[in-house]
Parts: sequence; C-alpha cells; structure tokens
Amino acid sequence: MLKDKKIILGITGSIAAYKAAYLVRLLIKKGAEVQVVMTPAAKEFIAPLTLSTLSRKPVISEFFSDRDGSWNSHVELGLWADAMLVAPATASTIGKMANGIADNMLITTYLSCKAPVFVAPAMDLDMYAHPATRQNVERLRSFGNHIIEPAEGELASQLVGKGRMEDPEQIVLALEGFFSSEKELSGRKIIITAGPTYEKIDPVRFIGNYSSGKMGFALAEVCAERGAEVTLVTGPVALHTNHPGIRRIDVESADEMYWETMKVFPEADVAILCAAVADYRPESQAIEKIKRENNGDMLLPLVRNMDIAEALGKEKQENQLLIGFALETNDAVEHAKDKLKRKNLDFIVLNSLENKGAGFQYDTNKISIIDRLGEVADFPLKSKREVAFDIVNKMITLFK
Ligand code: PMT
Repeated sequence: MLKDKKIILGITGSIAAYKAAYLVRLLIKKGAEVQVVMTPAAKEFIAPLTLSTLSRKPVISEFFSDRDGSWNSHVELGLWADAMLVAPATASTIGKMANGIADNMLITTYLSCKAPVFVAPAMDLDMYAHPATRQNVERLRSFGNHIIEPAEGELASQLVGKGRMEDPEQIVLALEGFFSSEKELSGRKIIITAGPTYEKIDPVRFIGNYSSGKMGFALAEVCAERGAEVTLVTGPVALHTNHPGIRRIDVESADEMYWETMKVFPEADVAILCAAVADYRPESQAIEKIKRENNGDMLLPLVRNMDIAEALGKEKQENQLLIGFALETNDAVEHAKDKLKRKNLDFIVLNSLENKGAGFQYDTNKISIIDRLGEVADFPLKSKREVAFDIVNKMITLFK
C-alpha cells in the first residue's frame, strides 16, 4: 500500500525523535520514498546522517544549502508528496502548524503541502493535556489533518500518562490504512454504534457505564479508510471524527440510539454494535433534582430498554450482516455464544474484563471472534486500531 508513495517525514525536537529512525526504516521497507525534513531542534536529538543513510536521501533542514547556497524549495516539496507525516510532533511545532508560524523549513513545507498530513504528537502528559495544546490539536483536525493520538505509558520525565509518541509500527499502519488501495468496502454502507448510553434519573444524575467509545471509533475509522460510507451512532464520548466517510450521529440514551439505528438499518449492508448500551432506564425522570431524605433508603424503579441488536436481528435481510460485541466477566465464551444466537448475529466479538488491557477505556483490546458455527478465533492483545482491522477483515470474508 505504501509502495512508491512519496512521503515527507517531518521530525521535530523531541526525545521521541530517536524513533524516527525506525519509522524511516519501516517506510523504506514498505517501498515508500522518504524525504526527511528536520527542525533545527530535532538535530539535537538525532543525527541527520542516520536519517539520510536510512532514507537514502539528503536530509533537508534549512531554506538554503550550506554547501552551495542552493534553495530548498518547500513549495516543490509540498507538491511532490503523497503524504506528509510529522513524527514526533512537539507542542511547539503543533502550535506553529495550527497558527501558520512559518519560521522553519518544516512549517513552510507543511503550509505548502497539498497532500494529506498526519501528525503524531509526543510530549509530556501535562503539556498534552494543556488547553493551549488541546486547542492547537483541534485546530489541526479542523484543517483535515489526521492526528495519530499519542499512547499512554512511561514518558521521558518518568511520569506515566498520555503523551508517548505512538509506536512506529502503528504509525505506518495508520498510513497504510489511509492508502489502502483495495478499498474493499467501497460502496458499502456500515452502521456502527459506539460509546456508552446515559439514562437520566433527574437533571443532574444518570445511569451510565465506562465505555470511552475508542473501540467503536477505531472501527469507524478503519471502515471509512477502506472505502465504506459509515454512520456512527455514538453515545456521549470525548472523541473526534475527521474522516469525510463518517457521518456521526450523537445520542444520549439507549432509546435515542435505538431509533437512530433502526432508521438507517434498512439501507445498510452491515451493522456493528459496539456500544455499551444500558439494559435498563429509570421508570421516570424527575424534573427537579431529587433531594436527599433525612432517613431511609431510596428505591429506583427501572424498566427494560429495547435491545438494539436483538431488534436488528429480527429485521435483518439475507444480504445484511450483523456483528455484535460481548463484554463479559465470567463464563465468557458460553455467554457470548448465547448472545450470538439470541440476537441472530453473524459473528460476535468477545472481550473479557478478565484480560488485562481489554475492554473499557484502554487503547488496547484482546478479543475472540466467535462465528455461527461456534468456531472461536483468539487474538493477542493489540491496539484497538489493529483489533478493528481484524474485525473488518473477518467481516470482508463474509461478503466474499
Ligand atoms: O468504548 P471502549 O472504552 O473502547 O470499550 C469498548 C467496549 C468494551 C464497550 C466494546 O468492546 C464492547 O464490548 N461493547 C459491547 C458492550 C456490551 O454492552 O456488551 P453486552 O454483552 O451487554 O451486549 C451484547 C451486544 O448487544 C453488544 O453488541 C451491544 O452493543 C448490544 N446491545 C446490548 C444491549 C442493548 N440494549 N442493545 C444492544 O444493542
């Protein structure tokens, strides 16, 4: 997928710059042509010679070549590229990109670049969480740039949190996903439910769950990158979507999710039900905040919500696929098989809270796929994006 693709790799002044060497190696191995552009600060962290050797091209850093005074044309470079990747991207470079501060070769190239731009931030957790950085990252997204979110883990400061540049393998996977020439899903309409649902108790309280939406959003991204027209029906989450192939519908309650999903299902080829939907909701919602009584406990009567998967299972036509998830804490395979049958699914993705790094909120997941014949395929712990690839690959085999 990356064969003969022309990629500008922008490297900035972060300790994660050492990973850029692996990145260049991986890209070259995949057959890409790589032009490295470094900021002056990046050269403090990794030698240009390392990168020019690996990329088989002189590294560009200044507007003029020291040797003969020739001009490095950022405009030509911007037009040459099939993609630009800035990895690692420091808070400073992200700020400059977001605000058009063109004071080095990397930023001028970025501003001239007509190709899709991928940005892999790397910084300390508090810097990444700072409102200034958040705003700049959002700005880049609003320009249509693709943000490859940093991973959580131990940082150079020895603090633990979100800010570690994503692994080179993952970054390459993101580029490959984008360039996936096969676009096996082009012309397919896919509904994905994601996130939690909130069931209101009163104006300030609700029944909810820990779903972050990460698994469902990863599925939406992968399906859209492979050419599908995606309708993402999501409960309340703090995630963003920027792929033009994704139409996002925000809902709050299970009831809203049910109606929005049912509305679009007749036109869909597939529904992937990844949302953690509340099975019950309060029988009534108080109009005013419920006050604490001086004594005695409180009982909250609950009524059953519609089961979206089960309802779609009844509506499903021969040419439609229905894929469900099962989040289990015990007797996982038995419970998942039961759901597969009861909801008339084509296969079910089991994730168990018994596995560390799987389920709610993690950037990773560990799944088993169970099909209608009862065959169980186990997968190792992977990033949710890679898990999404495995699920989509399985789905494509059913189309075939
Ligand atoms: O969002 P993340 O933090 O990334 O976490 C991902 C996840 C753990 C939420 C996801 O991987 C997952 O397992 N989603 C399904 C969770 C769940 O509610 O499972 P369940 O076993 O209760 O439901 C079985 C299936 O029926 C699911 O496909 C669910 O979407 C569907 N369902 C359930 C209840 C209901 N009223 N309507 C439904 O459609």
